[in-house]
Amino acid sequence: MVCNKRSIQLRHSINRSCLLLFLLVWVGCGPHYSKTRPEILGRQDQSWDQGWRFVLDDPNGAETVDFNDSDWNLVSLPHDWMIQQIPDINASSGTAGGYYPGGVAWYRKRLSLDREQRQRKATLFLDGAYRQATVYVNGHSLGTRDFGYVSRAYDLSRYLHVGPDNLIAIRVDSSVQPMDRWYSGSGLFRHVHLSLHEPLYIPPYGVTVTTPWITDQQAQIKIRTQLHNDTPDLLPCRLVTQVLSPAGKTIAELASEFSLSPGQQDSIEQQTTFDKPQRWDLDYPELYHVESQVYVNKYLIDESETNFGIRTVAFKPQTGFWLNERPVKLKGVCLHHDGGVLGAAVPRAVWKRRLEILKDMGVNAVRLAHNPHAPEVLELCDELGLLVYDELYDKWRMPWQTEEHWSPEETQQYRQSFVERWQRDIDDFIARDRNHPSVMLWSVGNETMEQLKDPNEGIAILKALVGRVHELDPSREVTCAMHPHGEFPSQLIHHLDVVSYNYQTAAMVELQSKYPTYRWIASETKAVQNEAPADWTTVDFSRNSWFAINDGIAGQFIWSGIDYLGESPGWPSRGFPGGLLETTGFKKPHAYFTESLYRDDPMVHVTVMDSQLAQKRSQAESWQDSWYGPALVDHWTFSDDQIKEVYVFTNAEVVELTLNGESLGQRRLSESPDRILRWQVPYQPGTLKAIAYQEDKIVAEHQLQTAGSVHHLELMRDQKVLKANGQDVAHIEITAVDEDGIRVPGFAQPMEVKVTGVGRLLGLDNGDLCDLSPSDIDTRSARHGQILAMIQSETQSGSIKIQVTTDGLPQIELTLKSQSCD
Ligand code: GAL
Repeated sequence: MVCNKRSIQLRHSINRSCLLLFLLVWVGCGPHYSKTRPEILGRQDQSWDQGWRFVLDDPNGAETVDFNDSDWNLVSLPHDWMIQQIPDINASSGTAGGYYPGGVAWYRKRLSLDREQRQRKATLFLDGAYRQATVYVNGHSLGTRDFGYVSRAYDLSRYLHVGPDNLIAIRVDSSVQPMDRWYSGSGLFRHVHLSLHEPLYIPPYGVTVTTPWITDQQAQIKIRTQLHNDTPDLLPCRLVTQVLSPAGKTIAELASEFSLSPGQQDSIEQQTTFDKPQRWDLDYPELYHVESQVYVNKYLIDESETNFGIRTVAFKPQTGFWLNERPVKLKGVCLHHDGGVLGAAVPRAVWKRRLEILKDMGVNAVRLAHNPHAPEVLELCDELGLLVYDELYDKWRMPWQTEEHWSPEETQQYRQSFVERWQRDIDDFIARDRNHPSVMLWSVGNETMEQLKDPNEGIAILKALVGRVHELDPSREVTCAMHPHGEFPSQLIHHLDVVSYNYQTAAMVELQSKYPTYRWIASETKAVQNEAPADWTTVDFSRNSWFAINDGIAGQFIWSGIDYLGESPGWPSRGFPGGLLETTGFKKPHAYFTESLYRDDPMVHVTVMDSQLAQKRSQAESWQDSWYGPALVDHWTFSDDQIKEVYVFTNAEVVELTLNGESLGQRRLSESPDRILRWQVPYQPGTLKAIAYQEDKIVAEHQLQTAGSVHHLELMRDQKVLKANGQDVAHIEITAVDEDGIRVPGFAQPMEVKVTGVGRLLGLDNGDLCDLSPSDIDTRSARHGQILAMIQSETQSGSIKIQVTTDGLPQIELTLKSQSCD
């Protein structure tokens, strides 16, 4: 990837005149970092996303070098083949998987190596591979890993040869369904990187930075660098570690000399203190940087880059969560890993927009449910100042699937797989994520079956998992989200550093006096009421769990921040519509209620009860009802003249509502126990406006205006210039408006989006989980007058033209630039 920070540029060019001499020395004597050796190449990291051959099938011999894959599709990664299928009411993934079928698929790619490169080591990094991925090198298996969400590295070196045709083949198998309780995606759905490096090297995720103590004046940092010597020589090594400030200034250079015997693996610890540390915090997420270089004699052999942050985190009894020595209430949401029509292959820029929208609403923490997300999501949380509740598992050894889903053999296989893999999963999970300052807490599970069915086994597994996490990262605490059902409190809570309970906030408050030394967190809550209303027109938020959160509870995580695929209420829905945001990132009306609780700066938002929508909801009952927001809309365009229930969300003291300039009276927040300000307003077209006051001064305003008939389309983009790296994404919000630019909420016509130039339409999403049309179409119906187009750059610089058409309205277009960032 052209702009990938991870791709370390070669700092030393090859001295061609010495090449021949070098090859003789090299081939004859093995790696020999001596005077006779020309400059060493160091490490070459490259994105390995492009040029994979793919087939959704399981042909015999697909791992062999000579197998003919010329008729397979050419794809680039991240690639989720599952989202390209049409949901099927009979698919065995069922409601859990959003009716997307599982299956077996293969990916193949060639690696060309010259003689010199062959002497080096090759490491392949898969950021995720769903599921049961078997990696083959020139026909030799490097083993199968069942768990699809964890990032892992493979040493390819043993089976490689000189020549253009080394074959890397990867088989993924997601045919046993339903596997997860949500949409998993399938395939190589995250990035892949290849690294060529010397046999003296820093292994994957081999640098760990911790900050044993921090004061406002000084901070101590400890850097542990692992090194492997796979050469046949005893090597005198020098590790030079530079610490760079957030501004890129070198603030410390540490050098350690040591020798490594053939085959030796060792860890070198370096430490330093420096003055005036700049803290990583929510508003100023300052990131420091470590550059590690390994020398033998004067030759740079390997190098690695690591970001870290300087901050303290603590969970305390009675006072909750502390960041940098001050209490911070966690205003959280839970997130699953998919991106609506993009499935599980979600580019960084798409997550960036989603996380920015949430942060802007006052969200300061995300729970990455329930399995490891892509590394970019954690990088973004570091950069944006969002705290992370980082979770490894949903279920453990006991699957959630019953006999109705799985055969006894499948259940047995799953159990066995957990026993065999958990330690490796944990090791990879912690090694990848431990340098992220955003990660404040590890979670090893969610609502496990053992908790409900066999607590003794649950305790045994929990102790093993927590113990391993502590060994790997003594600097953070460990939790596991407790199931709200079953014995209360669960016996498992006595074996957790921090007790997480889902949907038991009020009950957790009662436990505080019984267990005064325990620390608590509401790992799942509902955004609105606690129970589904019998009548959807009655909105009462007074039992909202946020109101129960006292000083002793660290905070809450709303289920969920964004609608997601899978866990559907039933056909034809592909997903769970209980998010604050739609899959498009558009806010639902009740999201502003959360915003009024979470945001510190003044806000106000008007919404209106839609009685027709309420009636529809009452007719279609589902167990998920209590997660949905009330039947609110944020428009003022109705065809009747009935009295409308108006709900206003604010964090200001007083709000005045006006209709067409006439006051409908003021309401005080302090007089509304559920923090909703209500008016009953006889409908009249025009402008319904809420004016929020604090100490008699206007601090925020919001209005809804009646739309006339649709007149034209408007486009709003989040960026004008894309990086020409084949990954960057611009989001274009397309809105059907009347003559005055007011959104026409009933507009639901198909919109066609054509992209020409150096970009492509990555996805067109309307947020409708019941829209069963294919994921990659260029024409989709608008919803509530809107649709989102995601445009991805290619690797050439130039212009990208986007043209949008819909029947009866003038075509509209927009041009973006795509620029190389070299
Ligand atoms: C919780 C569970 C989540 C999700 C949510 C809504 O119990 O932990 O994964 O399933 O319910 O259905």
